[in-house]
Amino acid sequence: MHLLGAYSLLLAAASCASAVRTIIPKTSFDSQANFDADWAYNYPWGTDHNGGARMDKGQVKFSNGMATLTAKKVTGQKDATHGGKQIKINYLSGAISAKEHFTVARGGGYDFSGEFKATTAKGTWPAFWLTAVEGWPPEIDMAEWKGSGKISFNTFNTSSVLSWKDVNYATPDQFHSIKCEVRDINQRDVSVKFYMDGSLVTTQVGGNFFGKAMYLIINLQMEGSSGSPGPSSDTLYQVRNLEVLSYNP
Ligand SMILES: *[C@@H]1O[C@H](CO)[C@@H](O)[C@H](O)[C@H]1NC(C)=O
Repeated sequence: MHLLGAYSLLLAAASCASAVRTIIPKTSFDSQANFDADWAYNYPWGTDHNGGARMDKGQVKFSNGMATLTAKKVTGQKDATHGGKQIKINYLSGAISAKEHFTVARGGGYDFSGEFKATTAKGTWPAFWLTAVEGWPPEIDMAEWKGSGKISFNTFNTSSVLSWKDVNYATPDQFHSIKCEVRDINQRDVSVKFYMDGSLVTTQVGGNFFGKAMYLIINLQMEGSSGSPGPSSDTLYQVRNLEVLSYNP
């Protein structure tokens, strides 16, 4: 290669590298200090949501780049309230939420990726998802497991207009890599590409997701959409090599 070719290649590499920023590095589960820089405990709105588990800081452990969320059966908890309904709390479990909010900007977007060991047993409902900071939607379920032996990938335009893809999840005892590419299309909608174990599974479109801030949540909810009763023994949900890259300008 002649000198000019090498030089322009170097320039291209440099401009490419500067366009991508690491928002959450793969080391965020290495220590309490690293964790605290990027994550908070529980849901952004508190300890309860739409299932039979109440989130509790004590159910979250991390070390050597891996987070472990554990759901344990409990009694004596007061009910949760969701959508005007009372929900019986049968578990304490773990949830973590990114401190950063994610807003797709013009010509930009994000890659969310990690390796997950998640159960598909009845009554267990692990998830890796994005949801609106103000109002709702946007919601993108980058991976969720609803106790049916499958993994689900969903994008909600409204509560009744959604794209979804359910895929068989053959080896829940092993880690599987998940990646979700979220990109601006037209300064109104965003494209969402879902990958599992390195292969593109489905592409969906989030209508009017552009410019709307989203929370990133990793949680082990129980029962609810996964059926009940859930297991009486402890349930583990593990995540490693979690990374968020920004392509926003
Ligand atoms: C959501 O809205 C986008 C933009 O209008 C559209 O392309 C997509 O098909 C919609 N999704 C569903 C499930 O209708």
